[in-house]
Amino acid sequence: MAARELTFEIFRFNPQDPESTPHLQTFKLTEEPYMTLFRALNRIREEQDTSLQFDFSCRSAVCGSCGMMVNGRPTLACKTLTSDLEDKVRLHPLPAFKLIGDLSVDTGTWFRSMAERVEAWVHERAPFDPGALEDRMDDDLAQAIYESDRCIECGCCVASCGVANVKPAFVAPAGMNRIARFMMDPRDARNDDEWFEVVSSDDGVFGCIGLMACADVCPKELPLLEVYAYLRRRALGSAFLARKKG
Ligand code: FES
Repeated sequence: MAARELTFEIFRFNPQDPESTPHLQTFKLTEEPYMTLFRALNRIREEQDTSLQFDFSCRSAVCGSCGMMVNGRPTLACKTLTSDLEDKVRLHPLPAFKLIGDLSVDTGTWFRSMAERVEAWVHERAPFDPGALEDRMDDDLAQAIYESDRCIECGCCVASCGVANVKPAFVAPAGMNRIARFMMDPRDARNDDEWFEVVSSDDGVFGCIGLMACADVCPKELPLLEVYAYLRRRALGSAFLARKKG
């Protein structure tokens, strides 16, 4: 069977160049067996246009660099086989992040700022004791924390989120997942009132309007629906207790 000819319509724009205007550029490429979008984009850059910008590092769905909109859906390009796509493929950069150029966006600044806002580290209050025994943890709880830690910070969930796209202050699904990870961790000494400050606003868990596209597009299939349910339960529980005390 003759190999397919694929047509790629790729978003081009260089924000650093005052002459540059956003547009779609068309490239043609003959499909290879087991070709991924990673391979296709590299061939286009090597053979047709060396100025094309896009990000890759691990090529195996681990580093989170290659998130982009593939026919309007946020996904990892290194994990996408061209055989799963129609003859015509349209590629855009992920929205909600600062554009570096063409398909390349700056997810790092967004994730760093989110981590600082939600203070995504274990808050220990006990003084450091180098002779102390290691903390023991229940297997099921360790597994639940590990599930949240599988996030590769690709930004696909943020790009798919209707709220994050119009409201930059929204903590977004990746941020909620980080919060849940530390909230579950028994070594984190933050109490319910402190967590309430972090999650219980319109920029936190109650800002989500429930479209749940994040759970559909997450390439690591993280349990984001459960994360939201867990955070809502904890926030409502602490509000209820505060009311009872008051
Ligand atoms: S290149 Fe690392 S996730 Fe795709």
